[in-house]
Amino acid sequence: MAGLTLGEALQKSANFFDQRGCESPRLSAELLLAHVLQTDRLHLYMEYSRPLTERETDAYREMVRRRGQGEPVAYLLGRKEFFSLDFEVDSSVLIPRPETEVLVQVALEVLNIRESAPVTVWDIGTGSGAIAVSLAVHKRNARIVASDISPKALECARRNSARHEVLDRVQFFCADLDQSTPGTEEEETLRRVLADGFDVIVSNPPYVRSGEIETLQREIRDWEPRAALDGGKDGLDVVRRIFAQAGRYLRPTGAMVLELGEGQAKALTEQIGREWVLETRQDFSGRDRVIVARIGSVV
Ligand SMILES: C[S@@+](CC[C@H](N)C(=O)[O-])C[C@H]1O[C@@H](n2cnc3c(N)ncnc32)[C@H](O)[C@@H]1O
Repeated sequence: MAGLTLGEALQKSANFFDQRGCESPRLSAELLLAHVLQTDRLHLYMEYSRPLTERETDAYREMVRRRGQGEPVAYLLGRKEFFSLDFEVDSSVLIPRPETEVLVQVALEVLNIRESAPVTVWDIGTGSGAIAVSLAVHKRNARIVASDISPKALECARRNSARHEVLDRVQFFCADLDQSTPGTEEEETLRRVLADGFDVIVSNPPYVRSGEIETLQREIRDWEPRAALDGGKDGLDVVRRIFAQAGRYLRPTGAMVLELGEGQAKALTEQIGREWVLETRQDFSGRDRVIVARIGSVV
């Protein structure tokens, strides 16, 4: 690639990505080159005929090599936009998805019924903190508990919380749902915080059926954390545990807002019993992907 102009380098790498079966080859090439040159995509076209320097070529070649192996663009850039906010991401966290923006939108609608009264939210499986931080930014009277089973993911979530200046309203816990490490101060604090109850519990849990993991796109299957994807045999293992273990921390007037895979809302409705009333909300393609669960009257 040495001596190539920006335009030639873009064309060559886009062709390479195409041959390697990478998603959106041209866009990947533009985003990665813009990242290496610390500019934006528009400026690449303004400098289209400029030759790359040797140092730029080396840095871009390395990016192209990694992308060619399937590494997602978001991990290579170290960032992803979500709900119009810039999030840091690394390989310890799921890359936030556009469909999860629907979950945030629905959670905000549920929370906005409370207008200016203080509200409490628990984000289970916070990952990069995309949901927790977006809610904290858009709902200034919300106090948020964000938990994850992965300590590394929590470090990333904490950095995103600091980046968006909501650290004072988001509290992080390393826990398997409501269970932190026994005998620790964290366990004691988590127990106290959970006992206060929540107006809204949100989660985008792992919900891919174990048997389907191997059929996922290479970018997801080989690079995103397994713990963020694998939901057990029918994909609903963690979801069922959320209802059983976390549901009891919901205030009587509260709601759980969860993201699910396609077709799972129906299966779940048949499993969780009549103490819950479920509503479904659709993603941008009209598929039932978000559920709002409220405590119903036990018959
Ligand atoms: C699908 S990712 C969602 C990440 C982020 N909330 C988002 O929407 O982009 C699921 C997250 O749940 C976490 N997780 C998986 N099992 C868990 C459990 N039993 N308790 C807490 N977190 C869990 C994973 O580590 C992962 O970060």
